[in-house]
Amino acid sequence: MTRDTEVPARVRRALARASALGFPGVCEDPMGPLLATLAAAVPPDGRILELGTGTGVGTAWLAEGLGQRDDVRLETVELDESLATAVRADDWPPYVTVHTGDAEALLPTLGRFDLIFADAVAGKWTGLDLTIDALAPGGLLVVDDMDLARYTDPRHRAAVQRVERTLADDPRLVVARIPAGTGLIISTRRPDRRPSRSRYS
Ligand SMILES: C[S@@+](CC[C@H](N)C(=O)[O-])C[C@H]1O[C@@H](n2cnc3c(N)ncnc32)[C@H](O)[C@@H]1O
Repeated sequence: MTRDTEVPARVRRALARASALGFPGVCEDPMGPLLATLAAAVPPDGRILELGTGTGVGTAWLAEGLGQRDDVRLETVELDESLATAVRADDWPPYVTVHTGDAEALLPTLGRFDLIFADAVAGKWTGLDLTIDALAPGGLLVVDDMDLARYTDPRHRAAVQRVERTLADDPRLVVARIPAGTGLIISTRRPDRRPSRSRYS
């Protein structure tokens, strides 16, 4: 559990937005500090993608990990225009871009990323292949809400198992299930056999 005093100001503002808007879907511990930690490890000129901005809690933790870097990009995609507008209105470092749109439609247009937090219906429960395709070699994909014990509805349980299977069966990935928080799965995309000139094309 993150102590309140350790929660960065930008994350607290995003949590306050969630309370004000009655938005229930913010990411839960330990996802925030984990995102910050993984963001801090992205390579020079690295790129990070979040699918599902919500009120910006995950975005704020990712920005916390990136700090004052000026060589990185952090892009986040939100379908709901009013949420995206509320998040955009906050004070973000220049490397943050909030896209409004459908993650599945945008994914093929955004290029490749060193770290992806897939936290929307699109690109996770559906269209997960597009998200895996968007991982740069050596890139990390993080998903939460994977603890089967949290679900009783057979459709939800089947969806969790489908995501697990898609990740575990993809030969491009090395996968770790982490029984923490809401249930995490972290996957790394193996380097391509024949290295391309750029990790991002
Ligand atoms: C679980 S919340 C995201 C929480 C946020 N990542 C955080 O860390 O607090 C899921 C978000 O995905 C958005 N969403 C749903 N369908 C989407 C889609 N097709 N494309 C992009 N965003 C979508 C929802 O509006 C919602 O804000």
